Amino acid sequence: MKTPLIPARLIERLRTARRVVVLSGAGISAESGVPTFREAQTGLWEQYSPEDLATPEAFARDPKLVWEWYAWRRNLVRQAEPNAGHLSLVEMERKIPEFTLITQNVDGLHRRAGSQTILELHGNLFRTKCSNKNTVVKTWDSTEVPPRCPCCAGLLRPDVVWFGEMLPHETLQAAQQATEQADIFFSIGTSALVYPAANLPIFALQAGATVIEINPQPTPISAQMTFSLNGAAGTLLPVLLTETWGH
Ligand code: OAD
Repeated sequence: MKTPLIPARLIERLRTARRVVVLSGAGISAESGVPTFREAQTGLWEQYSPEDLATPEAFARDPKLVWEWYAWRRNLVRQAEPNAGHLSLVEMERKIPEFTLITQNVDGLHRRAGSQTILELHGNLFRTKCSNKNTVVKTWDSTEVPPRCPCCAGLLRPDVVWFGEMLPHETLQAAQQATEQADIFFSIGTSALVYPAANLPIFALQAGATVIEINPQPTPISAQMTFSLNGAAGTLLPVLLTETWGH
């Protein structure tokens, strides 16, 4: 007999769950053609690793290089479309009384897919802030690269969290609170290497939730999961939805 993709016990629990939390990472956008963080950079950017570009030190050293890398990523994401994984989470939100989507992704694809309650732990590529005052800047006339803040002439930068920076306090707090109260917690498409996000599935387990990982590769937390589903989010999530709620 063929082993079912989704364990029956998981389907039963999901049907009656009231509070569901999903943590997503770059893997959920992989099937939209957005490269994950730890995949090789392509083309022009091949010689750089994200760890060399996504830091305050990199921006201080070469702000033009960092700005241009983000401009390239924005362009890549603009051409991408949400995939079946993103769309399944929109559907799941409609079925679950209290649903929270926590994402480490800065690509905005969950919102474009139609998800409503989203906590963006690492910011958003399409938002810009002043590197002096840390305030969001919506428009500017400066044609320099990077542009300068219209208020204080500080350099503008993407409103994303770089390595070594703090996560937005209120967003992290809301994520932790939702995690503590979850009946079911999904960790989808994340290598579970970057903290504090990588702690959330463990907090959920400690608080008594059923914790499910969806990833084609094992991660450092796979062995601790209640269920570890080995496969692509864009394949497994639609099957999970259909098996739980039908069409
Ligand atoms: P990573 O690039 O570290 O990991 C992506 C994960 O997705 C890997 O474990 C892959 O096996 C998995 N994956 C690939 N294709 C998949 C698919 N189709 N379906 C499901 N999973 C798939 O990305 P993140 O874990 O998101 O932080 O990285 C976390 C953070 O580290 C990022 O937000 C970023 C990064 O450096 C900051 O910029 C602060």
